[in-house]
Amino acid sequence: MCGIVGYVGHRSALDVVLDGLRRLEYRGYDSAGVAMLDGQGGLRVERKAGRLANLEARLDEVGRDGLAGTTGIGHTRWATHGAPIDKNSHPHRDATGRVAVVHNGIIENFVALRSELEAEGVELSSDTDTETAAHLVGRAYRDGETAGDLPASVRAVCRRLEGAFTLVVTHGDEPGMVVAARRSSPLVVGVGDGETFVASDVAAFIEHTRDAVELGQDQVVVITREGYEVTDFHGEPARATPFRVDWDLSAAEKGGHEYFMLKEIEEQPEALANTLRGHFVNGRIVLDEQRMSDQDLRDVDKVFVIACGSSYHAGLVAKYAIEHWCRLPVEVELASEFRYRDPVLDRDTLVVAISQSGETADTLEAVRHAREQKARVLAICNTNGAQIPRESDAVLYTHAGPEIGVASTKAFLAQIVANYLVGLALAQARGTKYPDEVAREFAELEAMPDAVSRVLTTVERVRALGRELADSKAVLFLGRHVGFPVALEGALKLKELAYMHAEGFAAGELKHGPIALIEEGLPVVVVMPSPKGRAVLHSKLVSNISEIQARGARTIVIAEEGDETVRPFADHLIEIPAVPTLLQPLVSTVPLQVLAAEIARSRGYDVDKPRNLAKSVTVE
Ligand code: F6R
Repeated sequence: MCGIVGYVGHRSALDVVLDGLRRLEYRGYDSAGVAMLDGQGGLRVERKAGRLANLEARLDEVGRDGLAGTTGIGHTRWATHGAPIDKNSHPHRDATGRVAVVHNGIIENFVALRSELEAEGVELSSDTDTETAAHLVGRAYRDGETAGDLPASVRAVCRRLEGAFTLVVTHGDEPGMVVAARRSSPLVVGVGDGETFVASDVAAFIEHTRDAVELGQDQVVVITREGYEVTDFHGEPARATPFRVDWDLSAAEKGGHEYFMLKEIEEQPEALANTLRGHFVNGRIVLDEQRMSDQDLRDVDKVFVIACGSSYHAGLVAKYAIEHWCRLPVEVELASEFRYRDPVLDRDTLVVAISQSGETADTLEAVRHAREQKARVLAICNTNGAQIPRESDAVLYTHAGPEIGVASTKAFLAQIVANYLVGLALAQARGTKYPDEVAREFAELEAMPDAVSRVLTTVERVRALGRELADSKAVLFLGRHVGFPVALEGALKLKELAYMHAEGFAAGELKHGPIALIEEGLPVVVVMPSPKGRAVLHSKLVSNISEIQARGARTIVIAEEGDETVRPFADHLIEIPAVPTLLQPLVSTVPLQVLAAEIARSRGYDVDKPRNLAKSVTVE
């Protein structure tokens, strides 16, 4: 998830692009860069690792001569391939330096494309997938049928790319034009008076125009001062969807939402799809930066999952899947406790360290301890190049994009999916699942973005319920099996956002103590398993709900669509789509996130920045 901007018009392109990047910095802040055309054949690129401020400081240092043109592109990066350093910052150029490209997404076949270019003697200067696209466009513009035709060159390259991408391209010989292409990753055009914009989000140009056009899948747009023209990847005219933006500037940065957390909740289908992308190749699960062989995975005799907070809850969910699929014992442990109790580890222990930020001190220290004990560490991380993945033996990145809201949402769901990929990779290497079973499980994971999108249609109803519950003193959350960590996560969200007393319990534990807390009107959220899954689990939970309802609790039941058995016991019913039991946390967590955010908002709290908390906790 990166931010991209392109501009052709009558103003200083540098000013417009830098303003746009400022508004898109929430999409990534690993590096920033611009490419500007001077109108006389000159193309200048400036880029810098770190926040946009670093790029601006560089521009001040080197001077802005040659950057005064009215056509330009810019990028703010969330690193996927290649560490967040200067040479991997966008824009990337071809060998002639005449083509500049910025990119959002992942080019899955970039290894093959890179080899092809290297075989032709092209020297690549970065570790990114993007640079291959720059060289390919440069070559297409130079030779063959598409020579001298930038839109045709971009289309020809797009036809060869696999994965999800938005590309924005300029060429020194085409000073009045920017060409952009979209597959999956977002891209919108802004139509002004004598000026046209492209960006990954309307926030980048809303200051200048509110007339926007959303590009469809596999479309290419050419923008000039006069307007825009859309085709498909074969050059046939194509239709994009015009719309008028009626948000104000601050809402625009949040995709029209009041706060980032709600936007991030809505980005969950994309986060899951991006995390899964490229991990099932030729019938096999592949992990990123696989520094562990199949033999290493076969040698594993025990798994520890270590993490903190929501990431720990993702680990608790993973235990059910990994034990079931791999027949391996899995212990899930709070990172802050792990190294202080002398855990039994050796070289056949696999430690899975989960961290959104990749910087959490407790998890980092636990990783160091595990490695000292010769265990192998696989990090699941959302931040490319962070300390935890750097110190681990292998890494699997979640591609949720930057999470601005302090409370984890999309990163949490992406972590569950990443853990499941680890489970399937272990099962595949160890032969505890046949290849067709692995393929089936992966296909079920691939259906989850759509299932989460369906849950998102209930957001407004859940928010209304949140407003009703805003004055409650406490809320309890109950679940069984994978629903138990979901209950813990629901309670954590409510505590941290709404400063409300909230507890999650394994529903079976209720009668061993917590049932004493039930009193008239106390809201209790119950996460129901599927009635089509393990029938015994379902019927036990139905009994638990009737017990608490009989004692006066106000029951809020999250249940599968069509589960009529729970209706009589539910004061409020929130329906979720039917999915396999192990995948249910991916849908049942979503309403709990929305509920907590809305209760917090109704109580007048800052949903994105809860008190006393920080996004990255770098002290133990
Ligand atoms: C809760 C939340 C925290 C983090 C925890 C670990 O909403 O976000 O509990 O999950 O601080 O952070 P990472 O995953 O960055 O190690």
